[in-house]
Amino acid sequence: MNYRREDIEALVRAVVTETLGGAGLPPAEKRQPKRLLAANWKMNLLATDARRFAAELSAAPPGVEVLLCPPHILLPVVREALGTRRDVSLGAQNFHPEPRGAFTGEHSAEQLRDAGASFVIVGHSERRALFAETDLVVGTKLARALRENLRPILCVGETLSQRRDGATFRVLRTQLDVALAALPAPAPEPALLCVAYEPVWAIGTGLNATAAQAQEAAAFLRERLGERFGHAAARRVRILYGGSVTPENAAALAACPDVDGFLVGTASLSREKFEALGRTLSAAAGGGDR
Ligand code: 13P
Repeated sequence: MNYRREDIEALVRAVVTETLGGAGLPPAEKRQPKRLLAANWKMNLLATDARRFAAELSAAPPGVEVLLCPPHILLPVVREALGTRRDVSLGAQNFHPEPRGAFTGEHSAEQLRDAGASFVIVGHSERRALFAETDLVVGTKLARALRENLRPILCVGETLSQRRDGATFRVLRTQLDVALAALPAPAPEPALLCVAYEPVWAIGTGLNATAAQAQEAAAFLRERLGERFGHAAARRVRILYGGSVTPENAAALAACPDVDGFLVGTASLSREKFEALGRTLSAAAGGGDR
């Protein structure tokens, strides 16, 4: 028989509450971090556009953390435009795992933190496909990011031919397992880790995963995370969906129980669309922290 996670959690909560005489677990919504709306601007925008975007961006809606990942050269520009605001974080799109040295054209974690980044995208499919990043390299970066106080967003996702071959879950499992295997003990604080399910066939194509496909993949990833870190910890890892997210398709995707936010490319280049995605995530979160 199949039990839903919510039913099991409710049952555990009831048993613990009874056992502890009313001092049981906090309600589920109190144990969840905010949803994350992350913009991956990729290699787009100039300083003027980036400055205006950040200066005009409306406040993060209730229950949503907003993250901008501009090209590295624009990090200080965006940081300056955000001023003293605390509702928007900055992230890098990539980094070099070595702390310093002769790596022409690269940036270290420390340099990116110095430029304002507190997050970093790791293992984006464009890095994997165009810059030959293997699962092992991605794992090294994941471990290094956590050690260097950058909060990683680990991207995983299958190509169209892998999906057609029925290999989706095998690909996700390998990408996730190899990356997590690089992490030293003790396990990282789960709220510091994000995993983004980004099917390659949906990136920049206008062809998003259906809500059912996104949920199935996100639930699979959470289950694997649970096997590695324990299921309570896995509930606190944010799992994002990315791939042709738009204001039109966002509500269905945001309603998926295992989708905790979005990693957005094209639509994040429009402030209006990006803000609309924030409102959708906020509504799905019930307008507050989960
Ligand atoms: P699009 O939203 O343009 O499909 O890009 C998704 C993505 O790659 C985010 O990292």
